[in-house]
Amino acid sequence: MARRVAMVNNKGGVGKSGTTVRLAEGLAKAGKRVGVVDMDPQGNCSQMFGWHYSPAKKQPTISQAIKADREGAAREVFQPIDWDCDYAGRISIAPARLPLENRMSEAGVAGAWRRLEKALEGVDDTFDYTLIDCPPSLFHLTQLGLAAAHDAIIVTEPDFYSIEGAKRVRDFIEHKAPKDLANPGLSLRGVVVNKYKDTVRQSEQRDSIRRIFGPLVWEPTVKQIEQLATSNNNGVSLEESKGDRLSEIRATYELLTQTFLKEIPLP
Ligand SMILES: Nc1ncnc2c1ncn2[C@@H]1O[C@H](COP(=O)(O)OP(=O)(O)O)[C@@H](O)[C@H]1O
Ligand SMILES: [Mg+2]
Repeated sequence: MARRVAMVNNKGGVGKSGTTVRLAEGLAKAGKRVGVVDMDPQGNCSQMFGWHYSPAKKQPTISQAIKADREGAAREVFQPIDWDCDYAGRISIAPARLPLENRMSEAGVAGAWRRLEKALEGVDDTFDYTLIDCPPSLFHLTQLGLAAAHDAIIVTEPDFYSIEGAKRVRDFIEHKAPKDLANPGLSLRGVVVNKYKDTVRQSEQRDSIRRIFGPLVWEPTVKQIEQLATSNNNGVSLEESKGDRLSEIRATYELLTQTFLKEIPLP
């Protein structure tokens, strides 16, 4: 089975999807096979991989696999990403779009929170890592992700409300996941500080993240760099991107990927 890692924060806009995509890219560059599950109905992460829904093609999405509530249901859902670089073939996406919202209404059905875990069973064995990009909430869709995961990474901005969101995730993993999601093995492995702007206030906020999370805080910090948002918006790899500060961006994610491989090693 792949090592399954949920990417979480209760707060939106902190860079969960962007970090998921760039870590998947870094891992693939390092030769790992990576599956990415988009659990946010906004489908940002799918789009960052160049994936677009077209009604004519009838592409399956993760929503269908979850609705099916059957072991292995995600098999038909993983598909190639639409990047043009040599490592793109090592990344597969289980994409999402708005109908994933409808899975929320089924949350009350017995055992509903196990549906992603079931859907992935026997399916992600071909990957080294499965990254699960969660929505900005701690409700059902995120719980599906956390129930299926072995590990969790929090992405946070050095900003008061993002840090509050990060603390709620940590408490949820500590106090709720063991019993309520029957996942006592779920382990918070890292905190990625993203969108760092070199100001006094942000530097103080980063210090407070380090005080709260201690050695869980990963290096390096990812700076706020416009080019990164452009690459994300264009749905392209860092290899294909054109613009400023790309060598700095590539170097940052190469180092962050090394931290990932050190903190979440394969057996
Ligand atoms: N380090 C960064 N520098 C600049 N823009 C970023 C950075 N990280 C993320 N973004 C941009 O910020 C916006 C929100 O990021 P996203 O990954 O979608 O957040 P989330 O998934 O937490 O809601 C997106 O437009 C994304 O491209
Ligand atoms: Mg997102």
